[in-house]
Amino acid sequence: MQSAQTSFENLRKDFPILKRTVRENKTLVYLDNASTTQKPNQVIDAINDYYRNHNANIHRAVYALAEEATELYENSREKIANFINVKDKTEIIFVRGTTEAINLVAYAWGRDHIKEGDIIVTTEYEHHSNIVPWQLLTQEKGAKLEYIGMDDNGELTLDDLDKYLATGKVKLVTFSLMSNVLGTISDADTIISKCKAAGVLTLVDGAQAVPHMKVDIEKLGCDFFAFSGHKMLGPTGIGILWAKKSVLETMSPFHGGGDMIREVHKYETTWNDLPYKFEAGTPNIADVVGFGAAIDYLSNIGMTAIRQHEIELTSYAIEKLSQVKGLHIYGTKDISKRGGVISFNFADVHPHDVAQIIDEEGIAIRSGHHCAQVLMERLNVAATSRASFYIYNTREEIDKLINSLNKVARIFKL
Ligand code: ALA
Repeated sequence: MQSAQTSFENLRKDFPILKRTVRENKTLVYLDNASTTQKPNQVIDAINDYYRNHNANIHRAVYALAEEATELYENSREKIANFINVKDKTEIIFVRGTTEAINLVAYAWGRDHIKEGDIIVTTEYEHHSNIVPWQLLTQEKGAKLEYIGMDDNGELTLDDLDKYLATGKVKLVTFSLMSNVLGTISDADTIISKCKAAGVLTLVDGAQAVPHMKVDIEKLGCDFFAFSGHKMLGPTGIGILWAKKSVLETMSPFHGGGDMIREVHKYETTWNDLPYKFEAGTPNIADVVGFGAAIDYLSNIGMTAIRQHEIELTSYAIEKLSQVKGLHIYGTKDISKRGGVISFNFADVHPHDVAQIIDEEGIAIRSGHHCAQVLMERLNVAATSRASFYIYNTREEIDKLINSLNKVARIFKL
């Protein structure tokens, strides 16, 4: 019988980039999956096939190619809706990625619904894309941005949420389902139920969660949900904003242009139906098709199996990293509360030095502030090193990471 490890290892043959060597003929060990994931042949081939055989603009013409392109595009929307358990696929809006999804909400919902004195609540462990759009909006409107804090375990302190909700001024609570730095999985059920009880809308940044675990939007019960294709084997430049139809219907368009209109006259325009009202211009058709292929690939493996694989890898990595001299791991060690993202530091060694030394061994990790400077301030550091795992990573790769980090410890005499 095959072990789970072996069957996940078999997936590696689908990823051409994993065969290449880097630096001095070192096999690539790619551990920067929170940043972006590698692409399997199935996704690369789907994009290639689209351009070779089906390329045409969508929703505009009646000829055969245009019909084929439209069908491929709309099939992907349906696959994505099923993947996250959304019943009405007109609630699935294609955007460039999580960042654009959140900006869309901040502009198209925020500018109509936020006024002076209102409060928007975010958290201390958000990516800049779930902070900056709200700073822009609240500054423009004379509203306030408040933060749910974080304890030393890297978990949100939800008493803060109670305190803000009690003011009666909160209009939106926004949080990431999984932190891109600490891997903490937010207690979404508690946050959303508290907000619902207070009549407050919720936005969930699912960029780090959807690729790694089963996410069921209906069960989650939020109002807005955003995620990106490239962190889940899909191409860059394509992502999803989901929102409840009843909420989308209260929103003005984000961008004006082709396909988002019903009728345009000299001085007035009426809007197309959902989701097209929010998809102005020729969309990123090829990458939508590639995203659909990524969804097929992940669905064939199964999100429960993927989460299990990452639990095994992450537990192994935490155990081994804890034995490296001078290395400090941030966030909770309770595996049920975290995903496969591990941030760490060696006492005084700059994370860029760590990343550079282990890059000589072919190991790719991210170092820096990870677009989360508010969190860096909370942790009282300028930067961290971060290793993040996905379906194709193996225990052997973690062993290589540990060996190279032991080398860092030796070089810096820790
Ligand atoms: N959001 C990506 C990361 O965390 C880029 O690395």
